[in-house]
Amino acid sequence: MKRTLVTLIFFLVTSLLLSVTASAAEKKNNPCLECHVEFRKPVKIEHRALNLGCETCHMKIEAKDHPRDKDSIRLTQEMPGLCFSCHKKSKFQNKDIHAPVASGNCTGCHNPHRSDFDMLLVKEPPDLCYACHNREKFNKKYVHQIITRRCSCHNQHASENPHLLYASVFQVCTDCHRARKSGNHVVSSLPSGKVHPVDGVPDPRDAKKMITCTTCHNPHSSEYHKLFPKPRICKMCHKFY
Ligand code: HEC
Ligand code: HEC
Ligand code: HEC
Ligand code: HEC
Ligand code: HEC
Ligand code: HEC
Ligand code: HEC
Ligand code: HEC
Repeated sequence: MKRTLVTLIFFLVTSLLLSVTASAAEKKNNPCLECHVEFRKPVKIEHRALNLGCETCHMKIEAKDHPRDKDSIRLTQEMPGLCFSCHKKSKFQNKDIHAPVASGNCTGCHNPHRSDFDMLLVKEPPDLCYACHNREKFNKKYVHQIITRRCSCHNQHASENPHLLYASVFQVCTDCHRARKSGNHVVSSLPSGKVHPVDGVPDPRDAKKMITCTTCHNPHSSEYHKLFPKPRICKMCHKFY
């Protein structure tokens, strides 16, 4: 009984809190919402910037009739400068910047107002990513099990590593596959007592490239088992194996 009461009070308090935040934009009798009623619908995530009012980002131009006159309402700043007025620009800059971030297309991935997906995303990853990236590359016969989840190997905005990875290929792969750090999974024991190279050794086919995990495994999906790029991978570099 006591537990039910506690649960009930908890429920009441949270729903009160929720109703305060959910109607933040509405609270001040926002005149914009008389017509833009979609802002009244409950959603999972509301951008905190909405608490400051529509005019934080939208400027009403005096003596214009909205919505009849074109340009009656404009953004207070160009994109992506608008976003950077509150979110530190430096976080979106690095050696390698994701093309839509570089071009200021933040709204290609984020709804500036509200969303049913975390982080105000317009869709849940990986579907979000397939809006611009060809799904077929990730959808071959053998799929790396983690692809169906969030694309957690990549930084979404910018990175100091190639391919927007959060670390080097070797580091990213071995963060999960720790046992594969040494090359003894390629050949269990070499006659010389050495291990087979899996990282940081020049690729015999192209000395400018280094061997790493993705030399022998496609990180996303492949027609061949174990995510091999070819059916007989040893033949890529050796005549006799
Ligand atoms: C009298 C009804 C009405 C009111 C009040 C209203 N709007 Fe609109 N607004 C519309 C209609 C209709 C459109 C065009 C259809 C659409 O895009 O939804 C529109 C379009 C817009 C657009 C996109 C097109 C453009 O002109 O840039 C923005 C941004 C916008 N409104 C912001 C606002 C803001 C901010 C307020 C409050 C200051 C506001 N509106 C108040 C009816 C209204
Ligand atoms: C954090 C900044 C920000 C705030 C705060 C904000 N907007 Fe916007 N809004 C934008 C941006 C950016 C776009 C342009 C989206 C695009 O080009 O894809 C936009 C577009 C719109 C549009 C047209 C496209 C659409 O989504 O329908 C309307 C209508 C609109 N805003 C209304 C509002 C209203 C009403 C409020 C206040 C409740 C508001 N906005 C608050 C940033 C903001
Ligand atoms: C007026 C200040 C302001 C502006 C302008 C602004 N934001 Fe925000 N934004 C915030 C605040 C405050 C938060 C909540 C605190 C935080 O997570 O940093 C937030 C959070 C977010 C989040 C995380 C949401 C979550 O669920 O954690 C995203 C994504 C975001 N903003 C994207 C944008 C984009 C894209 C733009 C440009 C269209 C933009 N913001 C412009 C103030 C702003
Ligand atoms: C390619 C899609 C994409 C684009 C384009 C994009 N974002 Fe994001 N953003 C994401 C994803 C996905 C997350 C969630 C990351 C996570 O969960 O670790 C995120 C998270 C965020 C966050 C909250 C976490 C944090 O890092 O503070 C903010 C704020 C944000 N983005 C702002 C922006 C701004 C501003 C732009 C434009 C300069 C932008 N985003 C462009 C996909 C994108
Ligand atoms: C609005 C379009 C758009 C969205 C959405 C988008 N991307 Fe991109 N992305 C691009 C463009 C354009 C490029 C540059 C051309 C290319 O490499 O395909 C790119 C490049 C990349 C690269 C670099 C490729 C390389 O080999 O260097 C990675 C990694 C990437 N995107 C991952 C993602 C992930 C993960 C998501 C989902 C969270 C995502 N992208 C969503 C447009 C987008
Ligand atoms: C977030 C954790 C994670 C990361 C990071 C990760 N993997 Fe995996 N990987 C898995 C899981 C889970 C499986 C499925 C279970 C298993 O076979 O261990 C898997 C399976 C595999 C398989 C076997 C697939 C098959 O069809 O037999 C290969 C090969 C593989 N990963 C290689 C890689 C490579 C190369 C990288 C780096 C580009 C990498 N993984 C990064 C979690 C991860
Ligand atoms: C020179 C080629 C080569 C390189 C480089 C390589 N692998 Fe492998 N990998 C293989 C071969 C061959 C197998 C199959 C071995 C077996 O059947 O036990 C394999 C199997 C795997 C598997 C297990 C697949 C399964 O069926 O569960 C994982 C996971 C894996 N490798 C991860 C990695 C990681 C992580 C790296 C980088 C540290 C890496 N590989 C580098 C050739 C390579
Ligand atoms: C991407 C190229 C590449 C692939 C694929 C590859 N190897 Fe190697 N392998 C090397 C390199 C580089 C060495 C080191 C040669 C040295 O130390 O002189 C090596 C060394 C070896 C050695 C030690 C003896 C020798 O020839 O030097 C054996 C045995 C071997 N690999 C077997 C295999 C087998 C079996 C496979 C398939 C499962 C395979 N390798 C796939 C590049 C590759």
